[in-house]
Amino acid sequence: MPQIGQPISRLEGHLKVTGAAKYAGEFNLEGLLYGYVVNSTIVRGKILSIDTGSAMKIPGVVEIFTHENRPSLAWFDIQYSDMDAPPGSPFRPLYDDEVKYYAQPIALVVAETFETARYAASILKVEYEAEEFDSDLKKNIEYARDPKMGLATMLKPLPPKPKGDFEKAFEESDVQVSSAYWHGTEHHNPMEMHATTTFYERGGKLTIFDKTQGTVNSQLYACNVFGLSFSDVRVIAPYVGGAFGSGLRPQYQLFMSVMAAIELKRSVRVTLDREQMFSFGHRPPTLQRVRLGADKNGKVTAMNHAAIAETSQFEDYTEVVVNWSNMLYPAENTLLEYQLVPLDVYSPLDMRAPGGSTGVHAIESAMDELSYKLGIDPLELRLINYAERDMAEDKPFSSKELRECYRQGAEKFGWSARKPEPRSMKRGNKLVGYGMATGIWDAMTVPSRAEAELNKDGKLKVNCAVSDIGTGTFTVMTQIAADEFGLSIEDVTFDYGDSDMAFAPIEGGSFTVSSVGSAVVKACQSLRKKLIQKAATMENYSLSEDNEGTIRFEKDRIVLSDSPAISVSFADLIAENSGRAIKASTTSIPNVFKLKKYTRAAHAAAFVEVEVDEELGMVNVTRALTAVAAGKIINPKTAKSQIVGSMIWGISKALREETISDHRFGKYMNENLAEYHLPVHADIYDLDAIFVEEHDDIVNPLGAKGLGEIGIVGMAPAIANAVYHATGKRVNHLPIHFDDLV
Ligand code: MOS
Repeated sequence: MPQIGQPISRLEGHLKVTGAAKYAGEFNLEGLLYGYVVNSTIVRGKILSIDTGSAMKIPGVVEIFTHENRPSLAWFDIQYSDMDAPPGSPFRPLYDDEVKYYAQPIALVVAETFETARYAASILKVEYEAEEFDSDLKKNIEYARDPKMGLATMLKPLPPKPKGDFEKAFEESDVQVSSAYWHGTEHHNPMEMHATTTFYERGGKLTIFDKTQGTVNSQLYACNVFGLSFSDVRVIAPYVGGAFGSGLRPQYQLFMSVMAAIELKRSVRVTLDREQMFSFGHRPPTLQRVRLGADKNGKVTAMNHAAIAETSQFEDYTEVVVNWSNMLYPAENTLLEYQLVPLDVYSPLDMRAPGGSTGVHAIESAMDELSYKLGIDPLELRLINYAERDMAEDKPFSSKELRECYRQGAEKFGWSARKPEPRSMKRGNKLVGYGMATGIWDAMTVPSRAEAELNKDGKLKVNCAVSDIGTGTFTVMTQIAADEFGLSIEDVTFDYGDSDMAFAPIEGGSFTVSSVGSAVVKACQSLRKKLIQKAATMENYSLSEDNEGTIRFEKDRIVLSDSPAISVSFADLIAENSGRAIKASTTSIPNVFKLKKYTRAAHAAAFVEVEVDEELGMVNVTRALTAVAAGKIINPKTAKSQIVGSMIWGISKALREETISDHRFGKYMNENLAEYHLPVHADIYDLDAIFVEEHDDIVNPLGAKGLGEIGIVGMAPAIANAVYHATGKRVNHLPIHFDDLV
């Protein structure tokens, strides 16, 4: 039975729910030391002195590292760079006396226990010379400028050039919408906070347990920054308790743990606490404007989508925010703009559907507003403007079953029960609203490697350095490998999360199934070839090389399909190979020349029902359904978990989540889970996700597009649109709070 398409439960699920799965901060060793990071209390300026005297006297304190006694470090920006680094000059922990942002790490206290380290950190005396700073995006719009180009621009293209004459077409259009959108800062709050445990081994070898989305990425960083050789550094990320982009770049706990281990020649763990999770990377606050001009029949003729986002003073973090609008809707006159304002904050960081969830919120809210102005059903308006071709890039889609998402989603949700007028639906004392929005996300593929081996017991082992950030990678890769040999998943082991294994890219961008999955397929195919070649050299077996297509794998042997009597056992094959397991490893490199002829994207349609209590300003998402077109679904169970999980995040984005800044002090004010609001169990009602059939033989050999991000993209605008339908109030900033509605 093929394993692809089966709703297999996570293979590591039992280990996780019983607490047996060990995360980066849980690996113990006799004599392990604990590091606690000290963060700056000014935004910008110079450190005049750090008095470590009293802290060093505390029994159990081993060392305190600052910029004054740190070991010698790499000089060049490139050495601090990583696979997800934007253009610019990456932040260097403990490099010098300069403070560039609030809560910058400025010291590491290392002690025999975590509590000792934390206490000692609390009594350090730091003197600063504070300088002027600016952290307020809205007040600095005049400084917006084009982003710098860099390697990251390959995966994050800048907006396409203007087409036609937007201003003229907008002016002349029958119906117009012009609205501004805003969302504030959001911080990463996965369950597992960032941690690194570095085991220092004899001869200076390091085994590093890191919370990361890329074991190879962390290995590269540690080697480059500290001048270590690759063979001396192994990075392991066995389980990752959610990352969502926070682990795409090596974070400063990795630097601190490795630095202390090298200097002290001891094993050291550094864990960040919840407050420190607000001291690196965030979804950047972004201001947007959308202007749409349409004819009376609803056809959009003029489209302007402009975004201004925050970045740091040292890197140009960019997102794709505005391009989606023209990928979704083929207006003839377009003006898409994206600019950055550098401020005294840490560099923003990818967060689930970075840019996509931002930009699509604006365009899908504007389309909703346009539908009411035209008196056309919001869903109908999307169909009137349906893009059969990507007009932003003027390319065909490799596949696009968005129409089916709209149709099946609307039917299952019961969209036809919606009464067109705002405030026309009620349930008891609550207003009821229906809203919908489209989702879109890239289907990218990047190079990856995998290694496959068959041992004499007929068990297949496949490995790749990729981490599983909780998405189901481990399970899905096992399924993919099993199908290449017709095995059941019990006979397949997939090893992962270890930089010693076959090279993997960072796990992000929803490109893991596509990239690592393709590598697994290729490695298995190459192993099959090897096995058949080997069999062809053996006497009595006429399993010649050109028989490849007619061979099947059965229990413990390779069998010729036409004449099952002819077979060779794995044991014989291995014996022929001098008793060694037969291995094959391959790199899968996407054929960019073929791929770039197409726009490759996953699509979705989100439908939402809200109940609004106007007396209290409370909004509940009582029902939501997302219909997804993302190519082949490898595992419907883990796939649905991805979509429902990101729908919950969409609810959070629309109604709860925001880091509040006090720009007088350049600080975040709610760096804890009491005040940084997230939905709880009682906020979540009936959520459903369905997958529509979509065939794609262009994206990759599996025909699978990836599902990590598509589920969040349409949710926030669908909720905002439902709130409008319920109340007649259009709220264009996120999150929507009770005071917007009472
Ligand atoms: Mo995702 S933001 O690429 O982890």
